[in-house]
Amino acid sequence: MDRNSVKCKIGPSVLNADLSQLYVESQKLLDNGADYLHLDVMDGSFVPNLTFGHPVVKCLRKKIPNAFFETHMMVSDPEMWIEPMADAGVSQYTFHIEPVPQNVLPICRKVREAGMKVGLALKPGTGIEAVRQYIEHADMILIMTVEPGFGGQKFINDMMPKVQWLRHNYPLLDIEVDGGVGLNTINACAEAGANMIVSGTAIINSADQKAVIASLRETVESSIHKCNV
Ligand code: DX5
Ligand code: ZN
Repeated sequence: MDRNSVKCKIGPSVLNADLSQLYVESQKLLDNGADYLHLDVMDGSFVPNLTFGHPVVKCLRKKIPNAFFETHMMVSDPEMWIEPMADAGVSQYTFHIEPVPQNVLPICRKVREAGMKVGLALKPGTGIEAVRQYIEHADMILIMTVEPGFGGQKFINDMMPKVQWLRHNYPLLDIEVDGGVGLNTINACAEAGANMIVSGTAIINSADQKAVIASLRETVESSIHKCNV
């Protein structure tokens, strides 16, 4: 892969792991080849589910000092958690644009000022035009391939045109997919041009996490390679 191409990164979601052992589960994923951890933060308002917040992330960071932590902020007020998440040691703060249509740019700026990378997330019903004007201000765009809220849902293939559009127009952009991504759906994601792959139950429920992570990577890397030859 040359310097001018995007890099494949696999970021497992621990949402459906045994959360009483968050550290053990997270470390196991990293030992099995994960490039980063995708931490699903839900507030019971933006989505009808509740997970964990910055106090838990901060404890996890103490045990895992070096890994790249992405928090996927499925919250109604993303501005509210910027400072606490930065203080907890988060590397990338990915927030949904839907609850803050008038405020995306100032929030991007604050996330950067707090020392984190910026990710912008789109629910399945949100068209790509809603994020177009902000792409230059973000490090990554997350195209949700399920309705946010729960792990283990069915992948929505109809989201692939959004990924394709982004890859076509932004060859070097980090594009992430999240929701229902596993061995049966990775091909579609890779061909559309996604390079950051979130996968929850497909990895967590597997008896051989290492093999699943390696296989996801292989599929994405071969697509990236095809684009560059
Ligand atoms: C859904 C979360 C996802 C989810 C992924 O709201 O954002 O990160 O946990 O899990 P799977 O891969 O099982 O859909
Ligand atoms: Zn997520």
